[in-house]
Parts: sequence; structure tokens; C-alpha cells
Amino acid sequence: MEKADLPLVVEWANNPEFGGEYEPLEQVTLGEIERWLDQLPSGEKWFMIEKKDGTKIGHIMQKAVNKHYTIGYRVLPAERNKGYCTEAVQLLVDYLFLSANVVRVQAETNPANRASQRVLEKAGFTKEGVIRKSVFIRGEWRDGVLYSILRDEWKTPRILKK
Ligand SMILES: CC(C)(COP(=O)(O)OP(=O)(O)OC[C@H]1O[C@@H](n2cnc3c(N)ncnc32)[C@H](O)[C@@H]1OP(=O)(O)O)[C@@H](O)C(=O)NCCC(=O)NCCS
Repeated sequence: MEKADLPLVVEWANNPEFGGEYEPLEQVTLGEIERWLDQLPSGEKWFMIEKKDGTKIGHIMQKAVNKHYTIGYRVLPAERNKGYCTEAVQLLVDYLFLSANVVRVQAETNPANRASQRVLEKAGFTKEGVIRKSVFIRGEWRDGVLYSILRDEWKTPRILKK
């Protein structure tokens, strides 16, 4: 994610349909999001998800937590269910295991967010369990489901496949 992407990122962030019913509601200005990108903690990175023709259709992020990484992602409603997020997750997992000395990449999602859970399952993650009342969304504390993939479970890196 570059500074030039931020007007698009603000537009997406302020559209409740982009986050969907399981993500926190946001209303942000361009100035706020510029400062946010400038001040990202080390270990946290955001990437734009692009189609081969360069169209930007979502974003995916990594955040270092203790000795492992947590990831998160969003795709534009019109581009969902075409496999884009699964491919982005596979590429990010490859990048993290190839570039960082970590044994675990994890993601947390709402128990009812079947699309997100399906993405993680397709990318080789395993469901670990429910984290009770872990996120505040739409006025209430909600449970999360924790998924992870371990280095031992990670198959041939997709980005090295011919
Ligand atoms: C979650 C999200 C990123 C998935 O992106 P995507 O590009 O559509 O994902 P993919 O196309 O790679 O895979 C989606 C899978 O979920 C399935 N799916 C979608 N909606 C579903 C539903 N309501 N019930 C069951 N499965 C569902 C699709 O059929 C597909 O699985 P398949 O390939 O076996 O058919 C997208 O839905 C999104 O942006 N949602 C809003 C933000 C969000 O919830 N982010 C995740 C927070 S943890």
C-alpha cells in the first residue's frame, strides 16, 4: 500500500459494505489514514490486492504479534467469490514463511463469517477454537474463531511454483 493508494483506501474504509457485517465500522479522513500509514509499527504491513490488469480490488495485512504473524483481508463486494482472497492469503503466507523466522501465521474471524473461514481452509489453515468476546463490533463484544497454519504444514510455496 502506497500513499497514492490512500484515496481509494479511504473510500473503501468509509463504505460499510466493504468491511461487511463482521468487521468494525470505520469513518476516516484522508489525513488520518496518511498519518496511520506513516506510523505503522514495524512488523505491520498492508498490501493492495490487484488483478493481473492492475485493478485494485482489496487489501491484505500482516501484523507481528509476539513471535508470529496475524493476517487480515478485505475484497470489494463485486470481486468476491472468484478466488482472489485465497490467492492473496497463499502469497502472503509464502512471503512470511520465506522472509521471517516464524513458525506460525494466524487469523481471527467471526464464527458466522463463512467466506473468511473458507478462505483460510482453502489456504491450508486449521481451526483452533473460539476466542470468547474478543472483538467489539457493531455495539457488542463478539466471539472470534482462531485459525493458524504452522511452518510444518505449509506446502510448496506458490510463489516459487513455475
Ligand atoms: C472474506 C473475503 C475477504 C473473501 O474474499 P473472496 O475473494 O471472496 O474469497 P475467495 O473467493 O478466495 O473464497 C471465498 C469462499 O467462500 C465461499 N463463501 C462465500 N460466501 C459464503 C457463505 N455465505 N457461506 C459459505 N461459503 C461462502 C465461497 O464460495 C468461496 O469458497 P469456494 O471457493 O469453496 O466456493 C470477502 O468476503 C470480504 O471481503 N468480506 C468482508 C470483509 C471480511 O469479512 N474480511 C475478513 C475478516 S476476518
